[in-house]
Amino acid sequence: MPERIEIPDSFPSVGGVSDKRVVITGAGRGLGELITHAFSRGGAKVVLVARTERELKSVADSLPGPTMVFCGDVRDADFNEAVADGTVSEWGGVDVWICNAGISPIVAGPLDTAPQVWRDVIDVNLTGAFLGARAAARVMGKGGRLIFTGSVLGERPCKGLAAYSASKAGLVGMAKGLALDLASSGITVNVVAPGWFDSPLADAWKSNDQLSEFILGHTAQKRWGRSVDLAGAFQFLASEAAAFVTGTVLNVDGGYLLA
Ligand SMILES: NC(=O)c1ccc[n+]([C@@H]2O[C@H](COP(=O)([O-])OP(=O)(O)OC[C@H]3O[C@@H](n4cnc5c(N)ncnc54)[C@H](OP(=O)(O)O)[C@@H]3O)[C@@H](O)[C@H]2O)c1
Repeated sequence: MPERIEIPDSFPSVGGVSDKRVVITGAGRGLGELITHAFSRGGAKVVLVARTERELKSVADSLPGPTMVFCGDVRDADFNEAVADGTVSEWGGVDVWICNAGISPIVAGPLDTAPQVWRDVIDVNLTGAFLGARAAARVMGKGGRLIFTGSVLGERPCKGLAAYSASKAGLVGMAKGLALDLASSGITVNVVAPGWFDSPLADAWKSNDQLSEFILGHTAQKRWGRSVDLAGAFQFLASEAAAFVTGTVLNVDGGYLLA
């Protein structure tokens, strides 16, 4: 091998997450459930976080590897700190923290968006992610990985989802800021921005004919995303192969941002 090509024999397989201790919020269903399965099948130890205990336990029971379940609300700073401390005390540390919990309660214009709905969306999607990142940064060491689930709507909003789009655009700014803040601690911070995926959250989008038509019309591949399309992006960013990737957005959208 030429001298300038430094690829050690131990170079990890791209997306290798074996033995990593991974916290995943919003792990009870939808995209979080699928990410959790992918990491567990890749040999990671996974910590499942959401509010509905029944869903978390059902997912945890179906996983092949070690799991822990923490039931609570990502809007609660103390809860996030307890997840961090509980993981450290049980498994000795945290390697990856995926802030994936999110809501999109309505499709409506500004006059039909109650102030409380706006606040809820920002609180869960943006503040909740910050509180998770804050707890993670306290306990993570060099090589730590923070990953936020963003959305293509953070870059290209569509009608009726202004609060959701604002929360996801905010995540990108936050990730870039934190990437700068945490670089000296050896922690990378990135966003995976899914396009339109079939999940319980997407039910409200699918049942809106106008929105549904818009989505397929603007997705270059003319289909909704499937589980197999997404997990690899998270695994890559969590792996050693992505050590030099920070402050970036990885769009997984079938070309939605192109069309
Ligand atoms: N589906 C898509 O097409 C799509 C596209 C782009 C981005 N996304 C993003 O992907 C992420 C997951 O979405 P999804 O489609 O999988 O949604 P989902 O099926 O509704 O699942 C959301 C998960 O987040 C949890 N959650 C919600 N609020 C929470 C809170 N306050 N505290 C703790 N956990 C909370 C939910 O559990 P509990 O309700 O039990 O707490 C659930 O486990 C979100 O950030 C979403 O914005 C989705």
